[in-house]
Amino acid sequence: MTKRDILDWLSTPEPERESLYRQADEVRRTHMGDAVHLRGIIEFSNVCANDCLYCGLRRSNVALRRYRMAPDEILDVARRMAEWGQMTVVLQSGESPSRAGDRALGELIARIKRETPLAVTVSVGNRPRGTYAYWRDCGMDRYLLRFETSDADLYRRLHDGGSLEERLACLESLRALGVQVGSGFMIGLPGEDLDRLAENIYLCAALDLDMIGIGPYIPNPDTPMGNEPNAWAAAPEMFFVAIAVLRLACPTAHIPATTAFDAVFPGRGRDLALQRGANVFMPNSTPGRYRRDYQLYPNKPCVDEESGDCAACVLLRLKAIGRTIAIGPGHSRRNTAWASTVADSRKKNPGPSNF
Ligand code: 5AD
Ligand code: FES
Repeated sequence: MTKRDILDWLSTPEPERESLYRQADEVRRTHMGDAVHLRGIIEFSNVCANDCLYCGLRRSNVALRRYRMAPDEILDVARRMAEWGQMTVVLQSGESPSRAGDRALGELIARIKRETPLAVTVSVGNRPRGTYAYWRDCGMDRYLLRFETSDADLYRRLHDGGSLEERLACLESLRALGVQVGSGFMIGLPGEDLDRLAENIYLCAALDLDMIGIGPYIPNPDTPMGNEPNAWAAAPEMFFVAIAVLRLACPTAHIPATTAFDAVFPGRGRDLALQRGANVFMPNSTPGRYRRDYQLYPNKPCVDEESGDCAACVLLRLKAIGRTIAIGPGHSRRNTAWASTVADSRKKNPGPSNF
């Protein structure tokens, strides 16, 4: 798989796109099957120390009421997930590192592993390797950390001086620790052309990721980029072309139909993504009262308390497109080496108490 191949696929002329989608759907079926993995996401805190130019959680945004859910409240949600077929809990928050907070998260991971059958995915941003190791020892199975863009200059401009290199080093640490690693990018950041989109997909393939989340960039009026449209605003079909090509480039990765697809195509974006390469759905399991304060971008679906029963809704959506719910945790399909790595390291490690 070369960059050239990816670029050629991305350049598929409009009349041939349906055939590209069918091909991606076929590759998804062959390698990942028809069953969709449900990963219930709990957005447990919107407190963030960063000031990313595109993101609604940026520390300078005063339009949000900041919240942190209590561990017991998170655990209450997690305990109910398995009966909805959600065998993974994704713990996501803004990036706000602190000794006490990071320790509390470790203790929460350990409790979830003790008290539920769930796989645990964490998504709370950059940390030193030692912190990732501690969470792994607590039982963390997977980690999500998007690289956002493969353009190092753009990365720096968007992220308050943070570097792509540092981001990739975090992914490397996680991989070395035997944690299943997810990354990805936003489609259509300002200035993106087909070449850059191809580079982004190529980087996903080169990183040999277990999970890959990509979704359209959506300008947020509460951020400095509110007036910077998506680079593909006039051709939103490119979002689906991107996910289809991603599937062709990474046949065995777990690829979620990300929430942002529904923001652009209300009520059907994620369903279409599942028919064009994706094999994972992440129902929102955040308690309704917090959802409106976790708006990374406008038109995020499922934020009204009335529309908030994603656990039931997702079952209907999948049924309507003829897909089933996966049984089991849905671990990485990339290889099985990670499993013994993690088991070994847990045996050798004195345990998380020394964090
Ligand atoms: N549009 C689309 N995606 C966004 N994210 C943050 N802000 C936006 C936005 N304005 C995505 C980032 C981040 C993930 C949690 O949400 O890719 O990694
Ligand atoms: Fe959230 Fe349908 S997926 S309400």
